[in-house]
Amino acid sequence: MSEHKTINITLKVWRQAGLQEQGRFETIPVEDVDPNMSFLEMLDFLNEKLILEDKEPIEFDNDCREGICGTCGAMVNGIPHGHGKGMTICQLHMRAFSDGDTIVVEPFRSRAFKVVKDLIVDRSALDKIIQAGGYISVNTGGAADANALPIAQEKAEEAMDAAACVGCGACVASCPNASAMLFVSAKVSQFALLPQGQPEATRRVLAMLKEMDNCGFGNCTNHRACEYACPKEVSITHIARFNREFLKAGLFGRSTVGAK
Ligand code: SF4
Ligand code: FES
Repeated sequence: MSEHKTINITLKVWRQAGLQEQGRFETIPVEDVDPNMSFLEMLDFLNEKLILEDKEPIEFDNDCREGICGTCGAMVNGIPHGHGKGMTICQLHMRAFSDGDTIVVEPFRSRAFKVVKDLIVDRSALDKIIQAGGYISVNTGGAADANALPIAQEKAEEAMDAAACVGCGACVASCPNASAMLFVSAKVSQFALLPQGQPEATRRVLAMLKEMDNCGFGNCTNHRACEYACPKEVSITHIARFNREFLKAGLFGRSTVGAK
């Protein structure tokens, strides 16, 4: 069996003891990193060493580790989830780096995301936006009713693409305005494209936008950094749809049957 070639890297990682504490970058050399480790496995590997040395391990969020849950997230060399296109940081592998590299790791930053500890940020503001209107509460019947509703394949595909958003917040972290518009537009689009989403469409778009503002997110000025950063490659065409939904809600006061 051929021997695995390991690499040595230097991490410049954000350390912050708590919400109210001052943070700072710490430089930590990490030796013998297997290129087949994922980025999070590399942090696990480093943390085991730190614990053995009686030092504080680096705290970071994670759960599924396969790009599904949206729990993980950090800036790697200034890019949310690192430079791999269409992937979360848990899907990023150390083979994307070279021996001797210095890698800067810091938390997602925005006024609405407070740093809780090290790389962990509080992203509950995104949950608040969903609670404001990102759901359907009207009776949509059973599976048989859903099957009886003709929906064009193209619309169904687009709704599925919007629903791929995992709520990671990378779009916010990449945006110079710290806007959550890509996230909000994906959540509005997934319903706006389907008949089941229509009865509450007016209330949904207005309430979600209001909550986005309340939470301290900025507005969209078409930088498109969000689209590049999104691990699910959610398109900014959903922002255009969001704007159309907003206009319909504001100007024409579209039907609010069943709305709260
Ligand atoms: S739109 Fe993309 S980047 Fe933003 S929260 Fe959803 S999955 Fe993450
Ligand atoms: S840990 Fe679930 S998407 Fe990364």
